Amino acid sequence: MYNCAIILAAGEGKRMKSATPKVLHKVCGKEMVNIVIDVVKKAQIDDINLVVGTGLEKVKKATELQNIQYSIQEKQLGTGHAVICAKNFLKGKKGTVAIFTGDAPLIKDDTIKKLINFHNEGGYSAVILTSLVDNPYGYGRIIREENGNVSKIVEHKDCTEEELKVNEINSSMYCFDIESLVDSLDKIHNNNAQGEYYLTDVIEILKKSGKKIGALPIPFEETLGVNSREQLAEAARIMRKRVNKNHMENGVTLIDPCTTYIDLNVKIGNDTIIYPQNVIQGSTEIGKNCILYPGSRIEDSIIKEGTIVQSSVILESKIGENTTVGPFAYIRPESVIGNSVRIGDFVEVKKSTIADKTKVSHLTYIGDAEVGSGCNFGCGTVVVNYDGKKKNKTIIGDNSFIGCNTNLVSPVKVNDNTYIAAGSTITDEVPEGSLAIARARQVNKEGWIYKKGLNK
Ligand code: UD1
Ligand code: CA
Repeated sequence: MYNCAIILAAGEGKRMKSATPKVLHKVCGKEMVNIVIDVVKKAQIDDINLVVGTGLEKVKKATELQNIQYSIQEKQLGTGHAVICAKNFLKGKKGTVAIFTGDAPLIKDDTIKKLINFHNEGGYSAVILTSLVDNPYGYGRIIREENGNVSKIVEHKDCTEEELKVNEINSSMYCFDIESLVDSLDKIHNNNAQGEYYLTDVIEILKKSGKKIGALPIPFEETLGVNSREQLAEAARIMRKRVNKNHMENGVTLIDPCTTYIDLNVKIGNDTIIYPQNVIQGSTEIGKNCILYPGSRIEDSIIKEGTIVQSSVILESKIGENTTVGPFAYIRPESVIGNSVRIGDFVEVKKSTIADKTKVSHLTYIGDAEVGSGCNFGCGTVVVNYDGKKKNKTIIGDNSFIGCNTNLVSPVKVNDNTYIAAGSTITDEVPEGSLAIARARQVNKEGWIYKKGLNK
């Protein structure tokens, strides 16, 4: 049986009070609409149509790598109208269309597969995914006949007193027989409390024409729709719990999963231990046997096995094996740090490579530099990489000892096996095997204090 999907993502999301289209708000680091598209694909539906309208260009841009088709809904006249806008996509197709919304990111791929099978094997014209909830406020209610069959969906604002008491809600996710759906879309109207063309009205239309309607109840934690910031936080909480559970199942220790924030695409090796208050974002990959002590933010970075990080920020960089970072280090984009390196407290590294076994233990800035292996940076070293107009490069060879409080005025080269005396301001190349001293000689003026009368 042919299956395709339509995802509704044209709505304004008024209740978010945001300049960003609702479906582009992120849950665990990924736009809700991309989460839904990914899950639909994972359920083996490849022919996907996204209905876009509000913030059309932004939504298209955010989904451009997804290889999907678009329908445009110029005015947001309701969910039924949104599907009417996708009629061209459905034209001439026979089979099943599943419908989802870009603001309900918690649906699981297994549930989608179950929905499709239930629909296709049961000979239904429509199947609705529903949930039983304690507080159905705001949702469309599933109205059943005495024999339990579904007769219609009534939106909250259109409910009678009796209907408001129903606690089975419409998730806004369905399967339809394509031809039955297309026929009944012609018959929906907008004389309801919101003056909108509701997709939900299709159910009653199909029922009245004698078609078979099914409902498949699933846990509310898969159907939660995001209409407000509060619901966005709730959806993120549920997603985070799933992500963290998955890592723990794969052998990662999370000391406190409730305060560990890991984005959807992050990969972590087994036997890594993560303490509270770590935020691990984007496409970060952490190797095995690492320890992340409390308080770091790591984004789009690769950290190899056995490395220890504490209270630091690491962005778009690579860190090798058995290296230590922090506390309070700042690794800025395009940095590549080797194996068994030490990056200590208050060290900032920007767009630089640092080779294996080099130690930069404290209070140092390294920018636009290429640093060899086995070097030792004294406290307070500054790579002076900016001349006021442009950034310049510093090259430091292997086994260099950079004395405390050295300035390396770029562009400059320090060759292998060199020493730089503490307090030097290096402006010229330091030859291999030499000691460089670049500071004024000390002068002692004996008795000066007494001559000046400054003694106490
Ligand atoms: C909808 C359902 C309701 C269900 C609830 C579940 C209808 C009429 N109501 O209500 O029964 O319980 O979802 O979360 O379908 N959209 C468009 N174009 C439009 C309007 C909406 O593309 O003109 C999209 C939105 O971007 C959103 C989705 O459809 O992704 C749902 O729209 P929303 O306005 O949030 O519907 P609800 O009021 O939540
Ligand atoms: Ca909604």
